[in-house]
Amino acid sequence: MCGIIGYIGNKEAGDILIEGLQKLEYRGYDSAGICVADEKSISRTRSVGKVESLKEKFALNKHKGTRGIGHTRWATHGAPLEKNAHPHSDLEEKIYVAHNGVLENYKELKDILQKKGYTFTSDTDTEVIPHLINMYKAEGVNIKEAIIKTVKCLTGAYGLAVIDKDEECLYAVKNGSPLVLGIGDGEMYISSDEIPLIGKVENTVFLSDGDIAEIRASEYQIFDINNFIVEREVNEIQNEAENISKEGFAYFMEKEIFNQPQSIKDSMRGRISKDNNEIIFGGLMDHWGKVQNATSINFIACGTSYHAGMVAAYNFENITRVSSRAEYASEFLYRHPVIDKSGIYVAISQSGETKDLLSAIEYIKKEGGTVMGLVNVVGSSISRITDFGIHIHAGPEIGVASTKAFTSQTLLLSMLAIKLAKDKGTLTKEEYIGIKNEILDIPRKIQKVLSCNDDIKKLAEEHSDKNNTLFLGRGVDYPVALEGALKLKEISYVHAEGYPAAELKHGVIALIDKDMPSIVLATKGTNINKVLGNVEEINARGGEIVMISDEDQDVFSHIPHTRISIPNTHPILTPILSAIPLQLYAYHSVVVRGRNVDQPRNLAKSVTVE
Ligand code: M6R
Repeated sequence: MCGIIGYIGNKEAGDILIEGLQKLEYRGYDSAGICVADEKSISRTRSVGKVESLKEKFALNKHKGTRGIGHTRWATHGAPLEKNAHPHSDLEEKIYVAHNGVLENYKELKDILQKKGYTFTSDTDTEVIPHLINMYKAEGVNIKEAIIKTVKCLTGAYGLAVIDKDEECLYAVKNGSPLVLGIGDGEMYISSDEIPLIGKVENTVFLSDGDIAEIRASEYQIFDINNFIVEREVNEIQNEAENISKEGFAYFMEKEIFNQPQSIKDSMRGRISKDNNEIIFGGLMDHWGKVQNATSINFIACGTSYHAGMVAAYNFENITRVSSRAEYASEFLYRHPVIDKSGIYVAISQSGETKDLLSAIEYIKKEGGTVMGLVNVVGSSISRITDFGIHIHAGPEIGVASTKAFTSQTLLLSMLAIKLAKDKGTLTKEEYIGIKNEILDIPRKIQKVLSCNDDIKKLAEEHSDKNNTLFLGRGVDYPVALEGALKLKEISYVHAEGYPAAELKHGVIALIDKDMPSIVLATKGTNINKVLGNVEEINARGGEIVMISDEDQDVFSHIPHTRISIPNTHPILTPILSAIPLQLYAYHSVVVRGRNVDQPRNLAKSVTVE
C-alpha cells in the first residue's frame, strides 16, 4: 500500500519520478506527489487522484532538478485530499518525507511537537516525521543523525524516502514496509518494489528492517540504527520489461487471466523431473524431513491467497491424512493461537508484503513454529523471513484482482500435496503418476477453459442490471465459490456472497428471487447429488442458475440453467480450472459497467497495513 520512488543522478528527476509512480500506482491511487531538488531549491507538486493528474500539474510547474522523491497514496490517516498527499515537509519546507506504512504513536509525537510550537498542515500520521527531523537538526546534529534520532522515536511500520534541500543525497529507511535500492551507473533509485526499476538498472539491494541508507548518485551506504555500517546483498533484477506491459490487452487483469497457460508452466518449470517423475522443490530439500513428519499443516493468508490455502487444506487433509486447516492471517494473530511446534505453517502471499501475514509469521516464529513461504515476489519481506519456501514464479501480477497468482498457488500446493502423500504412502505410485500427468496437461486445459470467454462475456452483459450474486459450492468447490464472490465484488462493486451450497437452506435461500443469480460450482470431486438437491431448491424458487461443472456432467440437464463446462481433470486440480470462468465473469462484469478494472476504488495491490 502506497508506492515510494526516489531518484538521484544526472537526469531530470521529475519525469523519472512520475514514470516510476505510474508503475507503482497499483499500490495506491487516491493521490500522489513528488518533490524535486537542484543545488539551490526544492519544490513539491501534489495532486488528488491518479498520477496522470499529477503529471499534468507537474508539466505546468516545470520544476528542474536531478534528485527527488515521489509517492502514490492509499489513504490511512486523513481523507484523499491534496494537503494529505505526500511528500510531507517541515515548516521550513526544506525536509520532505514520503512514507508507506502506519505510525502507531503519531498522536503522542504530534502532541509533543505541538507543545514545542510545531504546527501541522495535514491529517496524516506521516507529518510528524519531517518535523522531528527538523527538531533534531535544530539541536545541531547532521541530517543522518537527525533521521536516526527520529527513527528511534517511531513505533509502527514504515518505509521512508527523505530528501533535504541542503544535502546532495537521499535517505531511505525501512522498518516493516518494503524498500529496494536500484543501483545504476552514476544514478540511484529508491522504490517500494522492483517494478519501476526494470529496464532502468540491473542491480538492486533489498533493505532489511532497521536499515537506513544514505544514497548519492554514485554510491550508497547502509547503516543500522546505531549508525554502524551494514552490508546487504546485491541482486540482479529478475523480471523482464514485457512482464510489466499490457502487451496489447486492454487491462492488466485481462492479460493476467489469459496469461495463465504460461504462468502455470512457469510455476511448474524445473519442478517435475522427466526421468523419474519426481516433484522437486529446491527450497524444501533441506527441510523435507520436517514437512514429511509434520503433525499438522496450517495455511495462513489473506484474501485470494487465503482461498488458495482453503483449497489446499481440503486437498492435503484428503490425500495426505495429515490434519490441515486454513486461516485468515488477520484473525490468526489476535486469537493468540497455540502453535504446533511439530507442524508446518504455510504462509501464502502473492506480494510477499501483506502486513497481517507478516505479523502472523513473526508470532509463529516467536512461539517456536516453522514457517514455509509460498510467495510470488522474489526478495519480498515474507520470502525473507520465512524459514524456507517455494517461489510461485507466476511473473509480476499488476491488476489489483489476483488471478494468475491463485491458479499458480493452487497448482504448487497440489504438487506439494501429492509429493507428500506419495512419500507418506497415502497415495499409490500409480495414483501419484496419474495426478502428475494431469498436472502436466493443465496448461492445455486452461487454454480450453479460456475459449469460453465469449459465452461468459455474454452472461456478464445479461447480468449487467443485477446487483446481487450468490456463488455456491460444496467441498473444494466452496473456496472457489468464495474466490468468485471476492473477485466480483472487489472490482465490479456488485454485492456477491460465496456460500457452502448446503448452507443455503439455513437462511440464505430467503434471498433467492429472479434478480439474484446463483453461480453454482458442481465438479466431480464433490457430492454431485447433494449439490443437485441444492440446485433444485433454487430452481423451485424461481432463481436463475449458472452451473460450472465438468464437461461429462449431465445430472443437471432437467433443470433450466446456463452451463459453463470445464475439462475433466483430477479433482484436486479442478479449482485451477473452475476459478477461471469466475475470473472472466468478474472481468466482463466490470467492463460492462464501465468501471476501473485494474484499480478498483478503495483498494491497493499490496496491503502493507494491518
Ligand atoms: O499479496 P497477497 O497475496 O498476500 O494479498 C492478499 C490479499 O490482499 C489479496 O489476495 C486480495 O484479496 C486481492 N485483491 C484479491 O483479488
